[in-house]
Amino acid sequence: MASLANGIRHLPGYLDRAAQEHLVELVRGVVAEAPLYVPEMPGTGKPMSVRMTNCGSLGWVTDKERGYRYQSTHPGTGNPWPSIPRELLDLWEKLSGYSKPPEACLVNFYSDDAKMGLHQDKDEIDLEAPVVSVSLGSSCLFRVGGLSRKDPTGSFRLSSGDVVVLGGEGRLAFHGVDRIYPGTSTLLKNGGRINLTLRRVNR
Ligand code: SIN
Ligand code: FE2
Repeated sequence: MASLANGIRHLPGYLDRAAQEHLVELVRGVVAEAPLYVPEMPGTGKPMSVRMTNCGSLGWVTDKERGYRYQSTHPGTGNPWPSIPRELLDLWEKLSGYSKPPEACLVNFYSDDAKMGLHQDKDEIDLEAPVVSVSLGSSCLFRVGGLSRKDPTGSFRLSSGDVVVLGGEGRLAFHGVDRIYPGTSTLLKNGGRINLTLRRVNR
């Protein structure tokens, strides 16, 4: 893509292989406590193709009845989310330019045929803080547009170890994942892609 809106940064290969492997281990720990679940679209209840969980004092969830929201407990187990690993807090500190720590880390797991439609991240009260996003495993085609759904979009590939920061004017940019490229990484034994997004929710 020729240019990204101000405040959107793509940092290819930001995490080396060892750091990626370590993050996968940490994610496995999170998933052991807070299992991946199938989120539902508000209203229709249509299942999303991406499975999700969270760590942090808050987690982003969605279901048919109550829609998109943050809550402090896992919708399946009812337990508080596990805490955000220090390594991810460090990453946020290095890249966010924001004084307060993230409250939520959404864990998205994409199987080879999963995708995520174009959307804005706008369920947070604090929109001054950026969203910091980490890609692990198979590559994907990431699409990003403007502040209106009708704005033109562009797409580029995200690979394992890449980090994207959506901040500034790009904080509310529409974005989504068009497709996964199966077999493009050896990081996850069973394939697929993990995306971690760190968010500050409250001011
Ligand atoms: C998201 O927008 O929540 C996920 C983005 C990604 O998977 O890269
Ligand atoms: Fe998003």
